[in-house]
Amino acid sequence: MNAPVTIVSPAERLRGILPDIEIAALRPLLEEIDELKRARNAVVLAHNYMTPDIFHGVADLKGDSLALARLAADADADVIVMAGVHFMAETTKIVNESKTVLIPDTAAGCSLAEAITAADVRLLKERYPGVPVVTYVNTSAAVKAESDICCTSGNTVQVVESLGVDRVIFLPDQYLGRWVATQTAVKIVLWEGSCMVHERFTAEELRGYRALHAGIQIIAHPECPPDVLAEADFVGSTAGMIRWVKDKRPRQVVMVTECSMSDNVAVESPETEFLRPCNLCPHMKRITLEGIRDSLRDMKHEVVVDPEIAARARMAVQRMLDVPV
Ligand code: 13P
Ligand code: SF4
Repeated sequence: MNAPVTIVSPAERLRGILPDIEIAALRPLLEEIDELKRARNAVVLAHNYMTPDIFHGVADLKGDSLALARLAADADADVIVMAGVHFMAETTKIVNESKTVLIPDTAAGCSLAEAITAADVRLLKERYPGVPVVTYVNTSAAVKAESDICCTSGNTVQVVESLGVDRVIFLPDQYLGRWVATQTAVKIVLWEGSCMVHERFTAEELRGYRALHAGIQIIAHPECPPDVLAEADFVGSTAGMIRWVKDKRPRQVVMVTECSMSDNVAVESPETEFLRPCNLCPHMKRITLEGIRDSLRDMKHEVVVDPEIAARARMAVQRMLDVPV
């Protein structure tokens, strides 16, 4: 995609989403970002956990990790700003090497990506010779480079089953791995990583919502612990959860995931009441409008992946993108 020609101004896009007084205060910053995008021939890719000012105001392309990887591969602007966390920016660079990829804050990490190193994967491969390694995209490029295939929360089962084997090593999210094990006959060798945001939800708090709100629907991200997922009416990726709400139009729903999801989806689903037992992702929340402006103005922080690692990681990501979902 080429850099966008904005027909509706960013401030207009936020009308009815943020209070008018807040939009007026943000207008100069929104316009500055819009001008910089044009000047740099840049697009902003945004994950579903971005705050509404970013998600609805300045994002050109948005989605879950799977959608972002596909959109990143097809983007033909010169500059891609990742409004998301570092592994997403690295994936963007891996699938679209010739572009300048920027991340507004290099400290926007992920507890899952920190849970495993490339050396850990090499040791696992020695311990389980011949067993394919399926790696969640929430990992570093170096870990992807040691893997046979990547997956996201939106395609895990299809990826695991695409290999035609009876056992896989699944890295690094133990909860996503355990959830996949309930959906397939393939045996899953787990790693002990977890998401610092989703592991904090409890089954008890969800039972409390059911007790107080008759008929409420509970939908959860598969990074949650098994007892939490057992309470859910639907389990899916962030994009899967959004689709579910738009299709089913529940009267009341709880989205068991990061806080900004409900804020963003509520804008497009006015008939649904969202109860919000959210947990914030401190990494996602490092990305701000000011950071996006600085990133475009000063061309920082450029994401660089060692070409040899990128080439091997690309094979694992591309194999994933080739699996039909
Ligand atoms: P999705 O791919 O479902 O958007 O998840 C990414 C993520 O980091 C969830 O915590
Ligand atoms: Fe990582 Fe969890 Fe934050 Fe997603 S919500 S980026 S998995 S720490």
